[in-house]
This record gives sequence, C-alpha cells and structure tokens, in this order.
Amino acid sequence: METTADLPPADSPLHINHGFPVYDGELRVAGSSLAILAARAGQTPFYAYDRTLILHRIKVLREAFNGAAEIHYALKANPMPAIVDLLAQQVDGFDVASGNELQTALNSGIGPRNISFAGPGKRPGELAQAVAAGILINAESIEELRRLEKIAETLGQPARVAIRINPDFELKYSGMKMGGGPKQFGIDASLVPQALEEIQGCWLSFEGFHIYSGSQNLKAEAIIDSQNNAMELVARMAGTIRSPILSINLGGGFGIPYFPGEKPLALSRVGENLQRLRAHYAQRFPQARWIVELGRYLVGEAGIYVCRVLEKKRSCGHTFLIVDGGMHHHLAASGHFGQVIRKNFPVSIGNRIGSTTTEVVSVVGPLCTPMDTLADKMHLPVAEAGDFVVVFQSGAYGFSASPHSFLSHPPPVEIVV
Ligand SMILES: Cc1ncc(COP(=O)(O)O)c(C=O)c1O
Repeated sequence: METTADLPPADSPLHINHGFPVYDGELRVAGSSLAILAARAGQTPFYAYDRTLILHRIKVLREAFNGAAEIHYALKANPMPAIVDLLAQQVDGFDVASGNELQTALNSGIGPRNISFAGPGKRPGELAQAVAAGILINAESIEELRRLEKIAETLGQPARVAIRINPDFELKYSGMKMGGGPKQFGIDASLVPQALEEIQGCWLSFEGFHIYSGSQNLKAEAIIDSQNNAMELVARMAGTIRSPILSINLGGGFGIPYFPGEKPLALSRVGENLQRLRAHYAQRFPQARWIVELGRYLVGEAGIYVCRVLEKKRSCGHTFLIVDGGMHHHLAASGHFGQVIRKNFPVSIGNRIGSTTTEVVSVVGPLCTPMDTLADKMHLPVAEAGDFVVVFQSGAYGFSASPHSFLSHPPPVEIVV
C-alpha cells in the first residue's frame, strides 16, 4: 500500500454529502442496489438519475424564491428526454441551446411561451424553427437580430426576441465566466441602445433582457452581487425604450460542490435577495416575468455514473482499477471539462461504501491515453474485479458532454429511477 501522508483521511473520497442511502455498504438509488440497476440497464457502465432528488431540489428552490422568480431548466445540463419530460411538469420554463434541444423541449409538451433559446451562432434553420414554434429568442448580436428579422418576414410570423446583454460586470468566483469584457455571448451593454433600435422593425417583437454571466458558482455573495448589478443594468437599458418589459432573465450560475473544501451554495441568501429585488422593482416592471435559469443545480447531484472494475493491476508499486467506462463517457470526471487543474470528482466503490479497509488507487478506463483517469491516486475502499465504481455529482454535463465515439467503445446507458 502507498504512503498516504499527503492524502485526505480514509473516508474522505466522499467529500460531498450525496443524497443516496447506503445499506450494508451498498449504495441504493430509489431503493435499488447497483447490481439490480446494472441488470435493469442491461450493462455497465450506466448513468442513473434519481427522480426524487430532482423533485426535492425544485421544492427547495421554490421555498427559497418564495415566488420571486420562475425556475427555468437549461437543457444543456442534461437533455435526456425522460429528464426533460419530468421537468416539463415541474419547472416554469426551459432554456434551449440548439434546434435539437428545442425539439426535445417542444416534445415534452411545455408551452412555447415558456421556452427561450440562447447561444451564439444560431443557424438559419434553427432561427426558423424558433420563430415557427413561437418561442423567445435571446439575441446574441445585432447581426443575429437582422438575420432573424428576415427569417420572420419570410415566414410571415413575428419573432419574439429578448436581448442577451454582455454585462459590464463579471460574476466573481465563477467556474466559467460568460459575461464582462470581450465575449462571444450577448450584445455588449454599450451596443444595446443600437440593438433596441434594430428591433423597431415590424417582424421583431421585443420582450425583455437576458443576462447570463457565469456558471458553477458556490458563493452566494457573488451571485447576489451579479443579480443586483444585472437589475441595475436592466433598469438603465429599459430607460431608453417605451415598450413594457415582459421578461427579465437573470441567468443562474448556481453551483454544486465537486471537490474537497467546496461548500454547498447558501441558497436561502440568494432567495432572500431575489425577493428583495423583486419587491424593489415591482412598480418599475409590473408586467415582467422574472426568470432564473439553472441546469446543473437542478440535476447535477441527482445523477451517478457507474462502471465496473474489470481488472486490478499493479505497476511500479501503484494500484490501478481498470474499469469498463472512462473519460469517453464522463469527460468532466476525467478533469477535461471545466477544470484547469485536474481534481478528483467524488468517487467511491459503490458496493463497499464506508469500508474501513482502504487503499490508494487510480481508477482508469480502457482508452489508450493517460487522460482516461476517473480517479487519480484516491483513497478508496479496497476493490476487486466485478465491484462498482461510482462517480457522484454526475447528473449534469456527464453523458451529453462526453466524446462517446472516441475509440469506438460502446456508449453508457442512461436510466431514470
Ligand atoms: C445561457 C445559459 N443558460 C444556462 C446555463 C446553465 O448553466 P448551469 O448548468 O451552470 O446552471 C448555461 C451554461 O453554460 C448558459 O450558457
């Protein structure tokens, strides 16, 4: 066994409080053991998403917001149709980022008035789909507004538009900054008056503003600051137009803890600030829908990725668990999606959780690259071939954000339980 002097204590791989029960060392999802879930999935590797955890998260959000903002789900986090169908019954709207996501959203039965489409580089066909469906398009450039106007005219149907503003502030402490400074996202705040003039054309119907400044933020203060700044910006921009503001989308960016030392977001503080903001601007924007747009926060913690140990290998004094999954299924857990310095996701041996017999191992997949590492020198329960490796916090940006066809191994299965 390797020296563990610079490693966390034995049970620390689970450096998050996951919401899954454990019986006799075995993780359960909605009452089922991993062996049963693997049989149900027909294979390992698989992703399992727990409905109850998703529903619980929405309930907690509703309580925190207390009606101050609608909850919209960003399909990019997890576009599995069964998840989208479930959320269609639970949230107030959807954010889509492509024509295909739009189809999934529409197929779920959610009304087009509750769907918006953001993202740079919307193709002509996608803009036409959006106009035809009657959804709200968050315009990311003045050129996009011009293209949209022509498409709407050709279709003979006005396009519902909001302006996505590239704000003149940043979301501090954010895993991914998407506003402030030069960005491919949104229209620079200084250009918004010009964009509003473009919208005077008769085929564009202006509804409001969208400000999305960043993602994966665990600091309530930073989110509060950014929401306050966003509302000041909206108020400033709205001062230059006569038409009522029907929609104010404040973005989201609520993060979930992945790595040691990270603490869950203090949601109640964000909720209190939203309620205060809403009350403050109530008279100024009496007709506006207030929207918070979340992906990861709704589904991230409700999902696990499960693969099986094929072989235990020793090399130069180090132990490798070689598994039947890997970075081609879960790019984020390999450290190549959204991380600058690689850190281990929360990983454990799902049928030996809490075991006091532990060792330092690396969990690696079948690909011919050292990048294919799901856990690097982690302190895990001693495992054997046939055991289940579980990667927590995998409900968002897991399956759909991974290069499945790399090296032509079979893809994982997704199940909702
Ligand atoms: C416009 C927009 N909305 C919503 C999201 C969802 O972000 P998250 O999953 O971090 O909540 C993103 C993420 O990049 C985004 O770009």
